Amino acid sequence: MKVLGILGSLRKESLNRKLLQAAVNLGPEGVDIEIFDRVGEFPIFNDDLAGDPPPVVSEFKQRVRAADAILFVSPEYNHSIPGGLKNTIDWGSRPSSDNCFNDKPAAIMGAGDGMGGTVRMQPHLRQVMLDLNMHTINDELLVREGASKFDGRGILIDEKTRMAVTAHLAALAAWTQKLR
Ligand code: FNR
Repeated sequence: MKVLGILGSLRKESLNRKLLQAAVNLGPEGVDIEIFDRVGEFPIFNDDLAGDPPPVVSEFKQRVRAADAILFVSPEYNHSIPGGLKNTIDWGSRPSSDNCFNDKPAAIMGAGDGMGGTVRMQPHLRQVMLDLNMHTINDELLVREGASKFDGRGILIDEKTRMAVTAHLAALAAWTQKLR
């Protein structure tokens, strides 16, 4: 099963980058997670260009289409979805007849440095995913006080979180199988 993990942060030392890498390592057998970390390369969405998009958009849409399921891994910015990620989603959804996310099983993970752990971003993203006609698992994966959960090499060391990541991916895999 091929999962495309879409990273919502551009930061080199991003907690969410480390979380996505942990997901790659902790996924159940048979689940192969590829990372897409290029949301910073997308120009601001312009509907005039949607019919003839820049190469990064076409490549992104192909990779989404080739995946069996999508995993968004993103921080919360000002209680919502980071603009870069939302912009990438907007590109992927247009033209509406060519929405690459249509009918895809999906899951969301998020890490933050505070107590919220992306608790306000995730329902916003879920609402967007409804419009995209994605099928999102109900399970939530929130990483609170993220800085304390990874070691100096960026490895996820918190055992509870490691177990939660594995369970989340198993739920996504089972859901994807069910929808086939
Ligand atoms: C934040 N941060 C943040 N945290 C939070 O819990 N709720 C929020 O609304 C916000 N808003 C916010 C806005 C902006 C513009 C920035 C840069 C940051 C803090 C955020 O959770 C923290 O910086 C994370 O470490 C960002 O994720 P990455 O880049 O580490 O993956």
